[in-house]
Amino acid sequence: MGELHGDQRGVLPEEVVATVLRAGTVERAVVPVRVSNVGRIYEGGVVALDGVSLAIESGEMLALLGPSGCGKSTLLNLIGCVDLPDSGDIEIDGISTSGLNDDALTRLRRDRVGTVFQFFNLLPTLDVFENVALPLRLQGRSRAEIEARVGEVLEAVGIPEKARAMPSQLSGGQTQRVAIARALSHEPAILLADEPTGNLDSHSGERVLELLRTFARRGQTILMVTHSLEAASAADRSLHMRDGRIVSGA
Ligand SMILES: Nc1ncnc2c1ncn2[C@@H]1O[C@H](COP(=O)(O)OP(=O)(O)OP(=O)(O)O)[C@@H](O)[C@H]1O
Ligand SMILES: [Mg+2]
Repeated sequence: MGELHGDQRGVLPEEVVATVLRAGTVERAVVPVRVSNVGRIYEGGVVALDGVSLAIESGEMLALLGPSGCGKSTLLNLIGCVDLPDSGDIEIDGISTSGLNDDALTRLRRDRVGTVFQFFNLLPTLDVFENVALPLRLQGRSRAEIEARVGEVLEAVGIPEKARAMPSQLSGGQTQRVAIARALSHEPAILLADEPTGNLDSHSGERVLELLRTFARRGQTILMVTHSLEAASAADRSLHMRDGRIVSGA
């Protein structure tokens, strides 16, 4: 075969590359959350996650179930970019967290993810308004924007009258609502909720679930850890974990 010369040179490889890229894009469409064969071993050798893979679509509400210690919170921490996997890959909107430095990781977490922690973590010295405003202040939003958005989100969770209450003056259900309002105030694409109904009576629990469903209908991606089958039935799909692995539903 003769040598390639003139403008023939380089044309073929580029076409091949473009075709491969297109094929790759079709196979691996960008989803808000993709977890690929992830492992996490804590100091002391505890294998908290052992080859976990899952993907969550936009607007999908996914429930994560499994016994205490099976690795649910560990997985949420990795997706929430507060921790990095020891092996495998986590992608948020197609961006692999393993390749990011601390600053980039902080920005991704601040802008794309909201977290309702297992133990709520409201700041006790700040009132409800300031707790909910926190993610917006971190993003450097204006005072007017913060006023408007905090009002709106407290309205959405049904406790607008509690804006100036301190966390110690709230009931368990109200505290949970504030934690959800704070996780949603900056309109994150991904909401992670660790046992959002864990400490609530069934009526308050139902209201929290209905709230989460409303946000999913608006296109937010929700991953909710729960021990409750009732909560899981409010989700679009359930995954069951055991000993650091997904055992069904993936
Ligand atoms: N920082 C840590 N250092 C060492 N081991 C840890 C750490 N955090 C969690 N573990 C261990 O990793 C395993 C998974 O913990 P994880 O908190 O993810 O469980 P979980 O499924 O959320 O449990 P629960 O339902 O009780 O909240 C457990 O064996 C736990 O003891
Ligand atoms: Mg946990």
